[in-house]
Amino acid sequence: MGKLAARALAAGVLSADRRVAEAKRLLADALRDAQASLTGVKPPDPELRAGYAETLKRFGDMRGAALYYPYLGSGIGRGALVELADGSVKYDFITGIGVHYLGHNHPALLEAGIDAALTNTVMQGNLQQNTESEILLGRLLAGANRRGAQLAHGFLTSSGAMANENALKILFQKKQPADRVLAFSHCFAGRTLALSQVTDKPAYRQGLPETLAVDYVPFYDEARPVESTAEAAAALKGHLAGHPGRHACMIFELIQGEGGGYAPGTPEFFRALIAPLRAAGVAVHFDEIQTFGRTSELFAFQHFGLDEFADVVTLGKLSQACATLIRAEFQPKPGLVSQTFTAPSVAIRSALAILDHIEGEGLLGQDGKIMRLSRHFTGKLKDLAKRRPDLASGPFGLGGMIAFTPLGGDPDKVARYLKNLFDAGVIGFIAGGTPAKARFLLPVGGVEESDIDTAFPFIEQVLVETGDALAKKGGA
Ligand SMILES: Cc1ncc(COP(=O)(O)O)c(C=O)c1O
Repeated sequence: MGKLAARALAAGVLSADRRVAEAKRLLADALRDAQASLTGVKPPDPELRAGYAETLKRFGDMRGAALYYPYLGSGIGRGALVELADGSVKYDFITGIGVHYLGHNHPALLEAGIDAALTNTVMQGNLQQNTESEILLGRLLAGANRRGAQLAHGFLTSSGAMANENALKILFQKKQPADRVLAFSHCFAGRTLALSQVTDKPAYRQGLPETLAVDYVPFYDEARPVESTAEAAAALKGHLAGHPGRHACMIFELIQGEGGGYAPGTPEFFRALIAPLRAAGVAVHFDEIQTFGRTSELFAFQHFGLDEFADVVTLGKLSQACATLIRAEFQPKPGLVSQTFTAPSVAIRSALAILDHIEGEGLLGQDGKIMRLSRHFTGKLKDLAKRRPDLASGPFGLGGMIAFTPLGGDPDKVARYLKNLFDAGVIGFIAGGTPAKARFLLPVGGVEESDIDTAFPFIEQVLVETGDALAKKGGA
């Protein structure tokens, strides 16, 4: 509701009610008071340890597998800090793999949540959507088109995988009888039956039938820019020639995430691939589910200056509600794209608040907060790699997606390091295959340089300790 409902409507009467404003103020005050104790990293409370361990075990048993980290949130945090139910407080530098972009308990999200709670439905969907669905879609299309892209339509949805799934259906329907797609080696596109074929990780499709033929193109290698660009273009042309008219699209993950360990391409590299795709009439799909809101621009395709080539764009994660945006000519036939749930009301309201923050709080641009934080963090990682080349190399990534290679990149050692780092009070996550990397997705709207300064000694100290412990074990 808030500013969204006209005053003549009952909804407008509710949103203008002084009691609502007062309740919001009281809730914000209560939240602030409760957050006051969250000032830095804290170890678990010894009295909560046993109960916490039991809860984790019960949960793991029900799920059939333990959680990756022993993380069960208490339900409160402050910016980059999050309190777990064992009483510990940690720096959250992975944010649920890129979701909690404003950090924990941001006041704008409290307000969005209250407004959503006062609306009539928890969920919005195909048959019943409120005015804010129209506003969100309009904002996403306008944001995507502001540098010249021509995306005309869009569909909200409930997950990144569904946004990509909708994209694939739209692309195939448009390009009949296409039955293949192109994608980058080591890409990650989601885990539905179709997308687990695109995601280039056989372990994630073990035992599944082959539902979709995928031809892979090697990604950019910054150590061999010219050669890797030529190799990728040659591979692409080979696939196009081998299956003429059969490719519905090429899926571009512009900064490789989970599989590539935060490896960005370059405008020249992407253009070298888009030219043969255009010549062959194969659509360009930018998968921005992880990159949306993490570069100097709202979309990474804008950062790389690829606006004119955006046929289909998907976004998710930090946007809370996910979406598939398309050019007019890709408009699907009725019935192809529809869902009971498009997004929860709170996700739609939160998406609008997060867009307000990104666009209104100086986050974008080469000197915006995203790139500033990135330079600050990567500067520290660069210095670490220089001082301790035996323990760290890198950094890698772009903008709010940051990674480095700890301990030579052996996946087991990197996993050990990250679990020790979690225990010490900083949460990151693993990425890439071999070498594996430690990656971070900063809560850009809820973190400052000073938080990075406070968290970095943990990142370094735990690296040294894990390296020493592994060396001792290896030498024993
Ligand atoms: C590039 C990319 N595409 C698709 C997805 C799938 O999104 P979701 O996990 O919301 O289904 C992800 C998630 O990590 C992603 O990074």
